[in-house]
Amino acid sequence: MPASHEVSSTMFHFTALPPLSLYVHFPWCVRKCPYCDFNSHALRPGTGQAARGEVPEAQYIEALLADLEADLPRVWGRPVRSIFLGGGTPSLFSPEAIEHLLAGVRARVPLVPEAEVTLEANPGTVESERFRGYRAAGVNRLSIGIQSFDPEQLQKLGRIHGRDEALTAAQAARTAGFDNFNLDLMFGLPQQTLDEALADVRTALALQPAHLSVYQLTLEPNTLFHAQPPELPDDDAIAVMQEALQTELTDAGFVQYEVSAYAHAGRRCRHNLNYWQFGDYLGIGAGAHAKITDAEGVTRLWKVKQPRAYLETAGTPAGLGGVQRPGRDDVAFEFMLNALRLTEGVPALLFSERTGLDPSCMQKPLTQATARGLLDPGHEHFRPTPLGRRFLNELVALFLPEPAR
Ligand SMILES: C[S@@+](CC[C@H](N)C(=O)[O-])C[C@H]1O[C@@H](n2cnc3c(N)ncnc32)[C@H](O)[C@@H]1O
Ligand code: SF4
Repeated sequence: MPASHEVSSTMFHFTALPPLSLYVHFPWCVRKCPYCDFNSHALRPGTGQAARGEVPEAQYIEALLADLEADLPRVWGRPVRSIFLGGGTPSLFSPEAIEHLLAGVRARVPLVPEAEVTLEANPGTVESERFRGYRAAGVNRLSIGIQSFDPEQLQKLGRIHGRDEALTAAQAARTAGFDNFNLDLMFGLPQQTLDEALADVRTALALQPAHLSVYQLTLEPNTLFHAQPPELPDDDAIAVMQEALQTELTDAGFVQYEVSAYAHAGRRCRHNLNYWQFGDYLGIGAGAHAKITDAEGVTRLWKVKQPRAYLETAGTPAGLGGVQRPGRDDVAFEFMLNALRLTEGVPALLFSERTGLDPSCMQKPLTQATARGLLDPGHEHFRPTPLGRRFLNELVALFLPEPAR
């Protein structure tokens, strides 16, 4: 970074600005899953039929580009290193719409030539022709939401797809030329046994993904599962499951580089790594969040959440849902909250580079975490121990700003 980019304020001192990514949110799904608290809205509540025609495609893409245009003064000239088209269900949008969007993005921000461009796709909304179209539009990584291959589980999870569509989606990705694809799985599902969880992972491995995200099902407030909880495996069973899945994946040559993320060499998700390493990101789309660093510190901002309101206001001041400038303590905590999710942690130097703060402000919790065996000794690198990874919530809580502890 040239010296002209050296920025500082009385509170923060930055030697370089963090790498910049772009997140694009697509807020519609065919149907709302009972466990999901993402900003996703059912196109046809109560039906499982694909409803592509009903997405206000052209209008939404124009709104996204107006939104991006309005954000530009916050990031003038900074290169964008990755794009993540997430949802919701982005694969409800046609390849032509995605092409128009990505062309519009490229016309507005400098996208690095090797940028990772991921699109989230749901089985039941895709086939290889559609994947080919996304590829031609500039998408070079797919993330497919499988959740499980078990027909009964898929039904309990309210998914619009069955086992066959899950298998077909992964095969279609490969046929369309995507060797860099991720599969999302969940475990700890209603009444799931260890053997069933292992069967899901083995089926996923047979599809030869470059990356697997394996999430423990959580009951999120404001979801149907929270209001009417299904019977889930108990904590001990979950712990056994988690360990067995980790062993299965490691034996298959995957490296667990984050709590839920496993990858082959060179296939870590660069976009998500940028979040965990406290990089910057623009967020466009209904309810999308952004984090931007400048001389004054970190700014967090988010867009209005309701798709209808977003369509009407994107790119205008009314399209902004809120802006927040976290103080030093919050910035330090947010850095640790993200960085400690990584198996390898991060160098201490990254703390000062990304937060603009001196690592000495962390001395007390660092010492406590080490004394409790949750963090590796030697504070030139912040790396959780195996115990720290197992009790990540306790480890992270040590870094909470004082009054909140
Ligand atoms: C942003 S969601 C959307 C992906 C895509 N729409 C789909 O459902 O196939 C990304 C992933 O988060 C995971 N997820 C969503 N809700 C979850 C929950 N309550 N507990 C654990 N994982 C969850 C699922 O694996 C999902 O594929
Ligand atoms: S399809 Fe994905 S984003 Fe949509 S409701 Fe289900 S889990 Fe949430």
